Amino acid sequence: MTFQEEILAGIPTQLPEAQPYDKEINHAPKRKDILKPEEKVLALKNALRYFPQELHQALAPEFAAELKTYGRIYMYRYQPSYKMYARPVDEYPAKSRQAAAIMAMIQNNLDPRVAQHPHELIIYGGNGAIFQNWAQYRLVMQYLATMTDEQTLVMYSGHPLGLFPSHKDAPRVIVTNGMVIPNYSKPDDWERFNALGVSQYGQMTAGSYMYIGPQGIVHGTTITVMNAARKQGGSPAGKLFVTAGLGGMSGAQPKAGNIAGVVSVTAEINPKAARKRYDQGWVDELHDNLDELIPRIRKAVAAREVVSLAYVGNVVDLWERLAADHIHVDLGSDQTSLHNPWAGGYYPVGYTLERSKEMMADDPDAFRGAVQKSLCRQVAAINKLAAEGMYFFDYGNAFLLESSRAGADVLKADGTFRYPSYVQDIMGPLYFDYGFGPFRWVCMSEKPSDLQKTDELAVKVLSEIAAHSPEEIAGQMRDNIHWIREAGKNNLVVGSQARILYADCEGRTQIALAFNEAIRKGELEGPVVLGRDHHDVSGTDSPFRETSNIYDGSRFTADMAVQNVIGDGFRGATWVSIHNGGGVGWGEVINGGFGMVIDGSEDSARHIREMLFWDVNNGIARRSWARNEAARFAIEREMARTPHLKVTLPNEADEELIRKSLN
Ligand SMILES: NC(=O)c1ccc[n+]([C@@H]2O[C@H](COP(=O)([O-])OP(=O)(O)OC[C@H]3O[C@@H](n4cnc5c(N)ncnc54)[C@H](O)[C@@H]3O)[C@@H](O)[C@H]2O)c1
Repeated sequence: MTFQEEILAGIPTQLPEAQPYDKEINHAPKRKDILKPEEKVLALKNALRYFPQELHQALAPEFAAELKTYGRIYMYRYQPSYKMYARPVDEYPAKSRQAAAIMAMIQNNLDPRVAQHPHELIIYGGNGAIFQNWAQYRLVMQYLATMTDEQTLVMYSGHPLGLFPSHKDAPRVIVTNGMVIPNYSKPDDWERFNALGVSQYGQMTAGSYMYIGPQGIVHGTTITVMNAARKQGGSPAGKLFVTAGLGGMSGAQPKAGNIAGVVSVTAEINPKAARKRYDQGWVDELHDNLDELIPRIRKAVAAREVVSLAYVGNVVDLWERLAADHIHVDLGSDQTSLHNPWAGGYYPVGYTLERSKEMMADDPDAFRGAVQKSLCRQVAAINKLAAEGMYFFDYGNAFLLESSRAGADVLKADGTFRYPSYVQDIMGPLYFDYGFGPFRWVCMSEKPSDLQKTDELAVKVLSEIAAHSPEEIAGQMRDNIHWIREAGKNNLVVGSQARILYADCEGRTQIALAFNEAIRKGELEGPVVLGRDHHDVSGTDSPFRETSNIYDGSRFTADMAVQNVIGDGFRGATWVSIHNGGGVGWGEVINGGFGMVIDGSEDSARHIREMLFWDVNNGIARRSWARNEAARFAIEREMARTPHLKVTLPNEADEELIRKSLN
């Protein structure tokens, strides 16, 4: 069967060949055995819904074995026989070009160079799924290949509910992931619903087909490291940045460290993950011996080298050694996957990777205890180094939250955290409040030359805007222009021809319109997909991360994220998604995103103008209402140039008067 035929065939009517379990590839950990016997019956019944009855005899025992061995039913047998990667858009069988572009985005997410556990359909973060099983993948691809621009595909947590009639301005796909009744949103609820095959953890860009590998996060990480270094004063040269994680997104840290010009040391316990980043050129050196690493660090700092070192081992061992040797660390953080602490996101010190994996499935209580002890030790070492001058920040991975739950010494007397989150100190006040966020695009021709042209267009557009930018955002504009000028040289592409660029509403809109015009004139050889990750000004309500700098008591509400996705849905998005849990953990956040295919048409230009405007200004308006000064400035500026925009502004109250009135 050709690639196109296999896609059109959907779930094959004949049993495909069983596939051997590939030991070379990075696999998801075994999930814990959470279902009661009757629920296991339900899980199998649910899985068999995708197949005709005559195949059940063969499939039922196979799926039962998968559930027993892996804690989930992935339907490995149904992995496609073709190679998984994003093809140029015209190679997909399709009646809708928009749907073809979505197929390419899905295949890019699942590309083994890009995905963390590709055979389990996990894209990043240990549990960030695109689909729950391979039957869903096949069915979705078939639906996309046959749908028209008068239909919308409805996705429930990886499961395609079906194609429903709509119209050309409607989204082609509406995605929800992990949306549950709030009282059923504890981590074990995810384990149970996911094992039953009725829900999944979509992370942010995993379940929304917008993951572009570690590049997606490099720009944001670079901005964060650069600004953190600025906070410490002086030049970044010779400053030491210590952190953990060389996984999906965390793998961006060494690259960002190099771009920011510091010495970075990143601990990674999984040798396969470390090797993958090393082979891709994202980290310069691998070390597995602390006695050799410590002198190497001293040498790099003394020589003010720009270099990224990886410690292949447990981050707690690294922190404790740095503290014991009184090494001066300037910047510290952590990007282990603590949004998922009990199922493989964090590996406790003192145990091998293999032993941890066994324990989390066979003895989850003991594993939990080990993780909590490990976090306490990690925090103790970090506290010592912080007392010696290190600036430590939480990187939005629930490190402080889980450490506090573990009883680590991480709280101040008033119950708040000892250390800020990177959003409170950097991304919130300097970026999100002004509407700067992780705008991204993917060239559907898959040609590097198209990506280069889009980079050039973006530099041109941003330089023109920067010439009249107010002083409040001049620095951000300068950093972003520097980023995009350098982006091509930094070899950031893994998988699709994609680019990320932090930009505000004006920047995003003008860049997108310039791309649309270039497509119309034939200067770009294919359509472009616009999008962003969910880590943005408007898309995400996450009290310990994106909205951690909201101080009016509303950071535990999720109106903004829900409104955002609804508003994007009727203003021209090609697909929208809303998720429970991305980034910091199931039940801890609601986040949404969009994708928009632009093809040079007038319709595309209208979608760009209408949708991007809402997608950014919704969040600025909310942040302004929360009394964030930068957001107030940004929304007043926007109202001055957009007559139909009328936003409710807060009146300031005198706190002394309030206190007196209350006494
Ligand atoms: N706010 C942001 O911009 C932002 C950016 C990136 C990541 N994050 C958060 O950071 C976390 C990491 O994301 P990811 O996609 O890289 O996840 P990931 O699971 O792909 O990578 C985490 C890595 O940490 C390693 N690890 C776990 N415990 C360790 C330990 N004790 N010592 C050394 N290494 C250890 C794992 O082996 C894994 O490779 C997530 O919680 C994510 O939400 C936030």
